Amino acid sequence: MDLFRLDGNAALVTGASRGLGHALAIALAEAGADILAVDIGELDHVAKEVLARGVHCATRTADLSNLTPDTAAELISWAKAEFPHPTILVNNAGIIRRGPAIETTPSDWSAVLDLNLTTPFLLSSSQERV
Ligand SMILES: NC(=O)c1ccc[n+]([C@@H]2O[C@H](COP(=O)([O-])OP(=O)(O)OC[C@H]3O[C@@H](n4cnc5c(N)ncnc54)[C@H](O)[C@@H]3O)[C@@H](O)[C@H]2O)c1
Repeated sequence: MDLFRLDGNAALVTGASRGLGHALAIALAEAGADILAVDIGELDHVAKEVLARGVHCATRTADLSNLTPDTAAELISWAKAEFPHPTILVNNAGIIRRGPAIETTPSDWSAVLDLNLTTPFLLSSSQERV
């Protein structure tokens, strides 16, 4: 398992409050990475669980929909200010609007594409690189 150690790295995980993002944040912490946990929801429990793994954790409550290039760059700047070595970006935050296609509204469509596609694009392509 030493081949997979991430000591000295930091990982920004979006949607880290629950589900896959939460599991990824804990797994990355167990591998030695410091964690930058971002979510629209509560993150105190994530900080506690990450710190219990002997690494550092920074949390930020943020709605990642409707990001712009500027707000994406600001988020990456925050990550770099918290830890000097953020090398991992996990674009996990996402939503599903489950239902028959005929009942899917343009607003549902936009909300899903915005968070699931545009946000990862903006964070991944920010000039303020992780
Ligand atoms: N679980 C699956 O089977 C599955 C399958 C395919 C893809 N995915 C994708 O994997 C990702 C995680 O899935 P999951 O099942 O853990 O989802 P989940 O709904 O359990 O967790 C999503 C997390 O994202 C956060 N989030 C939602 N909207 C946000 C916003 N606007 N800003 C910031 N954070 C926000 C939520 O608070 C939550 O913590 C999603 O992108 C999902 O679409 C999941």
